[in-house]
Amino acid sequence: MSPSPGAVRELFRARFGGAADGVWLAPGRANLMGEHTDYNEGFVLPFALGHGIVAAAARRADRRLLLCSAQEPGCAADVALDGLEPGRVTGWAAYPAGVAWALAAAGYQVPGACLAIDSDVPAGAGLSSSAALECVTALALTELAGLSVDRRELAAIARRAENEFVGVPSGIMDQTASLLGRSGHALLLDCRSLETAQVPFDPAASGSCLLLINTRARHELSAGEYGQRRAECERAARLLGVPALRYLTGVGEVDRLTDPVLRRRARHVVTDDQRVLDVVALLRSSDGDVYPEIGRLLTQAHVSLRDDFEVSWPEADVAVDAAVDAGALGARMIGGGFGGSVLALARAEAAGPVRTAVAGAFARRSWTAPEFLDATPSASARRMALG
Ligand code: GLA
Repeated sequence: MSPSPGAVRELFRARFGGAADGVWLAPGRANLMGEHTDYNEGFVLPFALGHGIVAAAARRADRRLLLCSAQEPGCAADVALDGLEPGRVTGWAAYPAGVAWALAAAGYQVPGACLAIDSDVPAGAGLSSSAALECVTALALTELAGLSVDRRELAAIARRAENEFVGVPSGIMDQTASLLGRSGHALLLDCRSLETAQVPFDPAASGSCLLLINTRARHELSAGEYGQRRAECERAARLLGVPALRYLTGVGEVDRLTDPVLRRRARHVVTDDQRVLDVVALLRSSDGDVYPEIGRLLTQAHVSLRDDFEVSWPEADVAVDAAVDAGALGARMIGGGFGGSVLALARAEAAGPVRTAVAGAFARRSWTAPEFLDATPSASARRMALG
């Protein structure tokens, strides 16, 4: 569960010489409900994972950012902080460099630094390894500078790095989950007001469990489809005369759209926003075991993402069907889509059969075996204890 601080400290020493000033951790995220709703100013309900990215970091006296990563052994980066601009840095180093750029743009003087990075969030699995990299950099650089920046602001800065420096038009969900998640809770975020609420979420206490299935079909947010969906939503909102789809008050309103594609896109957003609120109401209720109903909503959300928003992919559809057939309470794809992971909810005793069924369904199609990951709602980004 999250890479060891000792190993990343060792990597730092081997690469840069000397000892790091500290080690920081930022988790990846899974999303319980609310997909493609964040940039429509709607609701999301993500939680921070136990898997994360760690950075061992130390200040430098000059204005350079030196980066290395255990996942990119042959590829260290040396970035001049002065004159940093979008387009100057490419590849994985653009994420930390973009954070330094966005911090400076927000008026925070960050020092030169060496950062050694290690990760156990699989890249391209839709678990927000990029947001975790941004958030761990933001936390390390600000703390090295002796600055204490409000976490909501830090999330906005990290998102700006991704949107404007890296060039991926993502919403605010992933960075917020990484910086504000709490163990044993899901985070309700209203993406219009940016208000948050911690919602107790402990499936194990009711004999249920979450299974995260990395389908191994890689997703690339920059691949264009994400931006296309975003543009479709903006167009639908404009045609309906609202600032964003969140402002629609009921699903009936989408029928005013004559274009069937835009109608489907808008219907997904409106119904998924409602599903977030429904899941929150269930988690907050004291009506006994709410997990079968949450499972039903998960599968319903998958159908909506598959048929109305059209962002699912074959491995996700097969994983969801196999999981549900094997007794899962429900399952759905998570994240931006076109590759990545599926989140399944099951009774603890059904977890084994669900895994077997999903692995079997993949094997029958000669697909790369799926990877099963733990999905325990975990704590947010933080400085790690020494030792
Ligand atoms: C990606 C983006 C998020 C969000 C999801 C879809 O993870 O980074 O902002 O839009 O896709 O819900």
